[in-house]
Amino acid sequence: MSFYSKALRSVAAAAVLALSFGVADAKEFKIAVGDGAGGTQEALGLAFVKALEAKTGGAHSAKLFLNGQLGDEQDTVGAAATGTLDFSILAINNITPFSPSVGTLTLPYVILSLEDAEKITQGEIGQQMVNKTVEDAGVRIIGWAYSGFRVLTNSKHPVSSVADLKDLVVRTPKNEIMIETYKSWGINPTPMAWSETFAALQQQVVDGQDNPYMTVNAMKFYEVQKYATNIRYIFSIEPLIVSEQVFQSLTPEEQQQVLDAGKEATAASGQFLRDQEARIKEELVAKGMEITDPADGEKEFIELATTAVWPKFYDTIGGKDVLNNVLAALGRPAVE
Ligand code: MLT
Repeated sequence: MSFYSKALRSVAAAAVLALSFGVADAKEFKIAVGDGAGGTQEALGLAFVKALEAKTGGAHSAKLFLNGQLGDEQDTVGAAATGTLDFSILAINNITPFSPSVGTLTLPYVILSLEDAEKITQGEIGQQMVNKTVEDAGVRIIGWAYSGFRVLTNSKHPVSSVADLKDLVVRTPKNEIMIETYKSWGINPTPMAWSETFAALQQQVVDGQDNPYMTVNAMKFYEVQKYATNIRYIFSIEPLIVSEQVFQSLTPEEQQQVLDAGKEATAASGQFLRDQEARIKEELVAKGMEITDPADGEKEFIELATTAVWPKFYDTIGGKDVLNNVLAALGRPAVE
C-alpha cells in the first residue's frame, strides 16, 4: 500500500472515531501552566489531558506549556477571556483580581487543610464560585489543583516570629488580600508577577516569597532560598480554567467531556498532594533548605492577620455572609 493510501486510511479512521464520539473536528487545546515540571499544576494538567483523551476516544487532546511560556498567570486570565487562549492552570490568588468573590479562598487562615479545600471547591460553594468567575472574568473553572500551604521562604535568616520579618523584602502576587496580610504583620511587601519572581529572588531584588513546598520545588527556588517557615495563612488552590468563549463553542457532549475530565483531574490532584508533599519537603531539606516552625504555634501571625484583614475585604468578596457560608460549611463559628 502506498504512503498516500495509508495516510488516507488513517485520516478516514480518525474521522470515523471522531464521528462516533459526536465530534465535528479534532482539537488540540493549549493549556498555559504557570509553574515548572514536577509540581501540582503539571500533575493536574497531565491528569486532565489523559482523561480528556480517554473521554473523547482520542479525538481531542491538549498540550501543556509550562513555566509561564504562554504568559504570566494573571495575563492568561485576560487571554482566556478573549478566547486567544484555551485553558490555563494558575493559583487562585491570580484569579482574585478578576473575580473578587474567589478572594474568600485567599483570606488568611480560612482554608486550614487539604480536606477543607476539597470540601469547599467540590461542593455548592465551589460551584457558586465557578458561576461567578464565568460572569466576572469570562473564564470557567473546571478543575482544582491542591498544592499545600504557602510557606514563607527567604535567603537571609530563619523566621519564627512576626518580628523576624522586619528586615525582609518579601514578594507577593499582585493580590490586595495578600498585600494587606503582610502589612498586618508589619512590613510592606513587593507585589510582583509570578513570571518575574525567580529572577527577582536570584538577583536579590527581593529576599523572600511564599508558596507551597510543591511549588518551591517545581520552580527550583531552593537554589536561591535557604530558609522556610511553616506558616499556613493560605492553602494554595490552583484552578484549571477554560475560556468561556472556547467552552461555549463546544457541543453539549464535548462540554460534558471537558467537565468530566476536569473532575477526574481534580480527584487525582488531591491524591498527588497526599502522595508527594512529605517526600518533596524532605528533598528540599536534603537540598539545603532549613525549615522553621513559627515560635508560638503561629498565634501572633493568625491573630494579626484575621483581625486586620478579614473585615477589610467583606465588601470585596460580596459581603460578610460569603465568608460565614464558607466557615459554616467547614463547621467553624461565624464572624460577628
Ligand atoms: C504566585 O505566587 O503568583 C502563584 O501562587 C504561583 C503559582 O501559581 O504557583
